Amino acid sequence: MKYYLTTPIYYVNAAPHLGTAYSTFAADLIKRYKKMEGYDPVVLTTGSDEHSLKVERAAQAAGVNPLAYTTKMAAEFISQWARLGIDYDHFIRTSDPKHHETVRWLFERCEKNGYIYKGAYTGAYCVSDEAYVNDVTPGEPCPACGNPTETVTEENYFFKLSAFQKPLLELYEKNPTFVKPDHRRNEMIAFVQQGLNDLSITRTNIQWGIRAPVEGHHVFYVWFDALISYMSAVKDDDFWPADLHLIGKDILRFHAVYWPAFLMAADLPLPKQVFAHGWILHEESKMSKSRGNVVRPGPIVDVVGADALRYFLLREITFGQDGSFSYDALIQRYNSDLANGLGNLASRTLTLVQQNRNGLIPDSPGSPDIAEAARRTTEMTMDAFCAFNFSRGLETLWSFLSVIDKFIVERAPWKLAKDDSGFAQNMLDETLYSAAEALRIICAWVYPVMPNSARNIWIQLGMKTPIESVTFADLHWGKLVAGQKIGSVAAVFPRLDASAIAKMELLEVQEKARQAELFGAAKAVAPAAAATLEAAKIAIDDFVKIDLRVGQVVSAERVKGADKLLHMKVDIGEEQPRTIVAGIAESYPPEEMLGRKVVIVANLQPRKLRGIESNGMIVAASLEGGKPVLAGFLEDVPVGARLK
Ligand code: MSP
Repeated sequence: MKYYLTTPIYYVNAAPHLGTAYSTFAADLIKRYKKMEGYDPVVLTTGSDEHSLKVERAAQAAGVNPLAYTTKMAAEFISQWARLGIDYDHFIRTSDPKHHETVRWLFERCEKNGYIYKGAYTGAYCVSDEAYVNDVTPGEPCPACGNPTETVTEENYFFKLSAFQKPLLELYEKNPTFVKPDHRRNEMIAFVQQGLNDLSITRTNIQWGIRAPVEGHHVFYVWFDALISYMSAVKDDDFWPADLHLIGKDILRFHAVYWPAFLMAADLPLPKQVFAHGWILHEESKMSKSRGNVVRPGPIVDVVGADALRYFLLREITFGQDGSFSYDALIQRYNSDLANGLGNLASRTLTLVQQNRNGLIPDSPGSPDIAEAARRTTEMTMDAFCAFNFSRGLETLWSFLSVIDKFIVERAPWKLAKDDSGFAQNMLDETLYSAAEALRIICAWVYPVMPNSARNIWIQLGMKTPIESVTFADLHWGKLVAGQKIGSVAAVFPRLDASAIAKMELLEVQEKARQAELFGAAKAVAPAAAATLEAAKIAIDDFVKIDLRVGQVVSAERVKGADKLLHMKVDIGEEQPRTIVAGIAESYPPEEMLGRKVVIVANLQPRKLRGIESNGMIVAASLEGGKPVLAGFLEDVPVGARLK
């Protein structure tokens, strides 16, 4: 039986961050889990949402045509998903002609069934959310995101959403799992019960979009474009309807109200389920480009690996609720659960088999108590994963892991090994078999969450079948074959210390600069940034107005022909690092400055030193007749923090 699931398709005007990677990680997990459950094929679609006024403007700001812009951005998403090891089947781009055809086809079906009419709209529009905003005067902030709204007056085509109030309420009633989690379903019911307004689904003020098959210049509203990509991606195969749309809670209304209404109007099958997860928060608010608090997954993956990041996000945060990310919490969980937990169990068990049984799995049915605990663990993990409660599933597995740890300590195989009696040797066989078999079962369960590490342990266990082909039937106790030769033993999760955080932070700064350049952000934000700078200039005696910030040095080099000068790029939490030239080269060689946190005066007028424009000043103690000593912090402080 097939299983078709989707991630949202991502706006291409921002690079992937932990928030967007979260949907994708979870979808990859579910794909692997559904395969274990026996579905075949399991097909995962992701993609890029490329049309809109926002993208049109971003491309303009970057000085390129929209297709060239979105092609570059879609390539960035594809390469980031590869870096994170995402196993998707289709990457659909809304600029793909195949998708355009599907959108027009669906529109024509709705039109034929009498759900489309021509009307006029004047009111407020939020470019950031790509949505008309009721109850505000144009120009006022959008109640959803706070960005200013714009006035639009348009004659466009409307979709009769109002006709679907009853059918939608019936859908939620008849199919109570259509929207998950339950509290989100209740929100949707309450929303639809209030009554639905018809929806304007074409725009005349945009060029960069799908042309509607009507007279005059009309392009489709982004949501009557993006949602349909789920169908376009599998149009040539027989995969529609989707079994699951996995999304964040902010886009639930589009998926649980508009989308089924479009499909009902077109007389097409509905997806079976929409699951809305919560938000990843950072520094106490939703991680998002507009808030400027994003953390990119790439640098984390380079230091701790994709598996550890996936594990952290899925273990730490109950799926469906909001949860916070911090580097500290990531490293703590890594060390406690992965290095000391799973990694330690694997190396301990395999080393014992190596040392005491020449690397061969002993012949024993294993301990009945452990077998029973394994059975219960499988049952509970299956229930949890089935309900997409991954944190509970992982918690269950880690409780089992502690049972095994305790069991090994109590049995003390190192003592049994010294006792030649038949009883002791049988006990040793039973102990080693139980630990190895438990490890195999844990490994199979961990695979959807941490595919690479699970595969690694699987191979060390000497398993012959690929872990990718494991199904529920393989999870029964006793499937580990006696006499199997284990592979060579190596640490899977080496312990990490605080330097890992410094490394991730430094790579993050570099990645941010790379992406800012790629996305043309410098050009897009330059006028605003320049205006802020201008407004912030102060008189020197007005000390409280001095904008002092924590910065981190991203690059440093000597200025040719000037012994005292260092030319640095310093990240102070803006889109791009600042260029700062400072007279500290005699005390601080460039290599010592790399990654160092410093205090910057951020609102001084720029000045040129040896032809290089310095945009800020680095704060140092200036000693009479001595060399400068940089101001710093004893505790760790976030880049961009203000000093007051
Ligand atoms: N393009 C639309 C989706 C169209 S689907 C037919 C869109 N794109 S998005 O790039 O803004 O967001 C994509 C997904 O990332 C959404 O599910 C959104 O909820 C999720 N996230 C973005 N930031 C997030 C967090 N900080 N935390 C968790 N998920 C978040 O919306």
